[in-house]
This record gives sequence, C-alpha cells and structure tokens, in this order.
Amino acid sequence: MNSKLIALSGAGLLLGVSAYSVLAQTVAPTTPPDPPEFPAQSEPVFVGISDILEFKALPEYREPEWVTKKFVETGKLPPVKDRLPKEPLVYKIANMPDGVGVYGDVMRHVIGGRPEGWNYLAGQTQGWGGIDIGMMECLTRTGPLFQVKAEELQPMPNLAKSWEWSDDGLQLTMHLIEGAKWSDGDPFDAEDVMFYWEDNVVDPNVTPLNGASPATFGEGTTLEKVDDYTIRWTFTKPKPTEYLYSMAYGTFCPGPSHLLKPKHPKYNPDMTYDEYKNAFPPDFMNWPVMGAWVPVEYRPDDIIVLRRNPYYWKVDEQGNQLPYLNEVHYRLSTWADRDVQAVAGSGDFSNLEQPESFVEALRRGAEESAPARLQFGPRTIGYALQMNMSANGWGEPDERGQAVRELNRQLDFRKAVTMAIDRQRLGESLVRGPFTAIYPGGLYAGTTYYDKASTAYYPYNLDAANALLDGLGLKDIDGNGIRNFPEGTAGGGDIEITLLANTDYNTDRNLAEGVVNMMQPLGLRIIVNLQQGPSRDALYQSGRFDWQVLRQTEEIATVVQRTAQLAPTGPQVHQFHRAGKDGTLDLLPFEQELVDLVNKFVGTPDLNERAEIMKQFQKVYTENVYAVGLTQYPGALIINKRFANIPAGTPISMYNWAEDSIIRERVFVPQDRQQDYELHPESLPGEPGGEGPVT
Ligand code: GLA
Repeated sequence: MNSKLIALSGAGLLLGVSAYSVLAQTVAPTTPPDPPEFPAQSEPVFVGISDILEFKALPEYREPEWVTKKFVETGKLPPVKDRLPKEPLVYKIANMPDGVGVYGDVMRHVIGGRPEGWNYLAGQTQGWGGIDIGMMECLTRTGPLFQVKAEELQPMPNLAKSWEWSDDGLQLTMHLIEGAKWSDGDPFDAEDVMFYWEDNVVDPNVTPLNGASPATFGEGTTLEKVDDYTIRWTFTKPKPTEYLYSMAYGTFCPGPSHLLKPKHPKYNPDMTYDEYKNAFPPDFMNWPVMGAWVPVEYRPDDIIVLRRNPYYWKVDEQGNQLPYLNEVHYRLSTWADRDVQAVAGSGDFSNLEQPESFVEALRRGAEESAPARLQFGPRTIGYALQMNMSANGWGEPDERGQAVRELNRQLDFRKAVTMAIDRQRLGESLVRGPFTAIYPGGLYAGTTYYDKASTAYYPYNLDAANALLDGLGLKDIDGNGIRNFPEGTAGGGDIEITLLANTDYNTDRNLAEGVVNMMQPLGLRIIVNLQQGPSRDALYQSGRFDWQVLRQTEEIATVVQRTAQLAPTGPQVHQFHRAGKDGTLDLLPFEQELVDLVNKFVGTPDLNERAEIMKQFQKVYTENVYAVGLTQYPGALIINKRFANIPAGTPISMYNWAEDSIIRERVFVPQDRQQDYELHPESLPGEPGGEGPVT
C-alpha cells in the first residue's frame, strides 16, 4: 500500500472529505493469506453409501436379554421381530471401525442449553448438544457423509429408504420405511410426514426449531401423500438435489402426529398456536421418538436421562437391534464444563470448539493416563459479524435501529467495519498458536467450494476505514469520539449500535468484546446485548438486532447443505435479511445477484458449472462484505477411550455435528470396559406423559 496515503490519513479527522475519498478508492481488496499449517489429526476412510448400510429383512433378530425376559416374555412388548419394520436399516459390519458391538453402558453428555419442551416442530429447543439429534430421525441423513467419496456424495437414506426422480426431474417420489413404529408402538407413516409439512413447515403460524419454511425446499414446491408409505415432491425446477440435504436434520424430521395433532389449532379449535408450542413441557416424560433413545427422566438444571427405544428400526448385519448403548445422559451445565468433564473423564463427549480451552485440553489429552482421546479436524468453525440488512421493518426497529440498518446497507460502511477488524489480534485473543486463521467471510478456506482467487479480503487498515466513514458524511459533530448519524436520521445523535451475542459461549462473548473494542477507533459505539441461547435465538429469529456475532451453520462449510440459506432466497430463510410485515424483501442489487447464483447452483447438476457458480458467489459475497468474517478454526472431538466404533477423522462439524456423524446408534463399549453408569438399568420408556421408565 502507498505509504504517502497512509501518512496522509494519519492526519486524522481534520482532513477534508475529498482527500479521504481519494484514499478510500485506492484501498483495493487482496486475497486472504493462507491459513497456518494445521493438518487434521486423522483422516476418514472414504466409502460409498452402500458400503455403510442397506435396507433388508434378516432371518433373525436379537435384543438385550433383559428386554426379552422382562418385557417380551411377560407380554408387555411384542417380540423384537414384530417391533421392527419389514426391512430394517442394516449397518454393514465391514464399515464398523470395531465391528459388531455388545449391549450396555451409557454415553454421558454435558450440555450448556436447557430444554424448553419437546415440541421442536413448533420451535422448542431441547438444549442442543445432540439431545434433539439423538431423538429425531429425518427423511435423509447427512452427518456421516464426511466419509463418503466425492463421486457418491448425496444424502444417505433414512426414514426415506429410497427415492426416484421423474423423467423431467420435477417430481421426486420417496418410499418411506415400511412398518416402523414410534417408540410408543404407534405406526410411523406418511401421515406423520404430511403433518410435519402441512401443519408446521407450511403453516405460517409455526416455525420448526431449525427454521424450516417452504423456501427451504424451494418456493412453490409441493408435497403430497401417495399412500401410507409413499410421498411425492413436485419442484418448480428440474432435479434440485440440494433439497435432499434439507430433508435431513434439522429441517425434515417429522414428529409424532398422534400426539401433536390433537394439540394443533387446525385440528383442535380450543388450542392457540402458543398452547400448541408449549403442550409438551420438559417434564412430559416418554415423548415418542423415532430416534434411538427416549427421554424418561428430567431434573431441572441437573439432568435429562434417555433410555433405549424398544421399537428402534435399525439393526446390525447379525440382526442385533440397535442402539448398543442402553442409556444416554445430558447433564445440564455449561458448554465450557462439557470440555472440562470430557477431558477429566466425568463426561464422555465434547466438541472442543471454544479455542479458549484448546491449550489446556491438548495438554491433558496428551497425558498417557488421559481418559479421553482428542482429535482435531479441519477448520470448519467460523464466526462472522452479521449486520441486519432489512430496511423493511423486520423486527420493528425504532428510529435509531432503522438508521443503523440504512448504514448496514451501504457498501462503504461494511467495508469500513471489516477494515477496522484486526483479525490476527482477534484470533490470538482466543488462543495463540496455529489454530485460528484470518477469515474474510464467505466460504471457508480448505472446504470443497472455496477458491482463494475469488475471495476478496480487505486487510486491516484503520485509517482507510475511517476515511470511508468520513466519505459517508458520518462526522463526530460534538467531538465526543463517536460519529453522529447523518443529519435528519435518528436526530443526528451518536451512532450507537447494539451487538447481539450468545452468553452461553466464552468465544461468542470474547469475539463480541473484540468487535466493541475495534469499533472504538472508528468512532462507532457498540453496545453488546448478551443473551442466553434461547433468548438470543428468539431475538435474531424475529429480527430484533442491529448487528450480531454468530457461529455460522453448515451451509458455509459444505454449500450443498441448507443451500437456500446462503442468500435471502425466500422471505424467511436468511439469517440477517428477512421480509418485513408485508412479506417482501428489500434486496440490494448484489443480494439479488447472490440469490440468483444460489438458485442457479441448485438448478445445475453439472459439477464444473457448480464450482464456477460458487466462485462467483464467493466473489460477490466477499467483495460486498456481505458478512464480516471474524475468525475460522478447527475443533477437536473428545470422546472417552472406552467407546468403540468411532469413525476415524470424524469432524466436530461438517455436514452435521459430530453427535450425528459418529453414527451414535452403532457406538458401543466393549464388555471389559463397561461401567456402571446406568441410572435406570433394565428399564424401558413407559407411556407418553407417564411417570418415566418402567421395569
Ligand atoms: C451446540 C454445541 C455444539 C453441538 C450442537 C449440537 O450448538 O455448541 O457443539 O453440540 O449443540 O446441536
């Protein structure tokens, strides 16, 4: 960069606007530096999907002996073969890292969230950390795809055991697993699927937990029931294979319609939508699931205990009904405590994802006597500063809030903010060493669709950043160090911007603090709004934020997952730009370009063309600083050494969280390593809404 210009800008706020705009124009983006070397510590063994599983009937089936003795032989449960579907999902032994497992033991999770209730279809969280992932099953499955060969990459079948496209590619017919049952014995069929779709996704009064809306599957898409085990999608574009990814966790996981329908306002006029949402509070036990374990005990701020689902519809090749683990615990604590306990051995599992704990965890994990193994994966965790781009009333901003949004929508404003972020320092404030990388925003370096040459990076340059804000006419009129809103907006007062952040994570808090400090020399006053997970979610889902610091979701790492959310492709799909009350978006031209690129990507099967489209996407995204990238780093999976069948190279987050990617129902503890951790041994879930487990 031209040193004369730096010297010029050093003259500070006294300089005239025109000199600054000359300076600003010379600040061209470069490409980002390469991330420091940090090889993943183990690599997956790449296979095809048919190497992992198939659907077929086996000559005989088995279950834990105590289930047969205490439940089947006493007439409390039908025999295992009658509880399984016609053709169960069968895991192949050759793909199991440690082979066929044995029954018993517990996986003891620790989580930082708290359950709001079980109705995830209406948006309630169960506390995250895998509890919902373990209870839900979805039409397709993505977590384990990290080990699937590129040429065979597509979502795995799950509740939808197979599917075919019509010749014109507009229709997708899916065949559901036949004869599978909910954990209380009620049949699972197309009625559950249609209830999820029509009365939760499509009903505008309901928003499922992970925000599924019609646009998640393409505006104009329809779904119909053909018969009890067949459903048919009709799309407006041929062969949009991305939507198969949206049919996985957490956007197409049906719930038990036999319990939910009677509480839904459409079927029960005495109920309101709020009552529907809250009809199954956390102390409602034995909530029916299609997943491997059922919640049987809940103690507030203490623990949720889940027991094996006697109707689970997956088996190993020898016919052993899964899961192998009898019980699962979710200790209700903090996310940082999850790391501490997993490393110490009083918990069994953690996604080590807060860099603040890396050094200590690595040190402990390296000790010979360490109870847990710890493996770093690729850099797929990234944080961005997102600005609310809706100037259309989304979230009903006051005058000041509206003025901030008008600023957010100006390219020079976003450029100024990104250039005021010293990413090296920000990364090092979390952890020293080769972990964090400079992240300009957009797709992550090191992932499939990333292209360095298409990535615009505006390096740290405080003077140029200040010049850009001067150029926008944002002056510090009263000399208090804070620039003022332009005359006529928000009373020309100090520019104050609220920054929403999640208080459940140290990393979110530290990054938010970092942003506050770095905006100071830019003359912007940032006020952090720290909220616990659920209230943070509620605020951002309803658009009540100016800026937010957010750990990003899968689409940024994989592109093929939740693709529709990469841009505001529908009124309610995007994280920081949604429709106002009138249902319309107010897209800027470059946002429209992003939307068009995403739609083009979804409509193009050609792999080379797709790669090209994503290069353009990355260029438009980063040149326009759509979101201000903050930092990007790897996470480590920590699992207690007694567990077997953990696939090599499992990333903590790629197509889904590691809780899904490890294929939890196949995980087991060898007999000689089993511990006495079961809180409800030899019991099974009881009646929905009943007391808890029964023996
Ligand atoms: C939280 C945790 C993640 C992961 C997910 C699973 O977000 O921070 O590590 O466990 O829950 O949903």
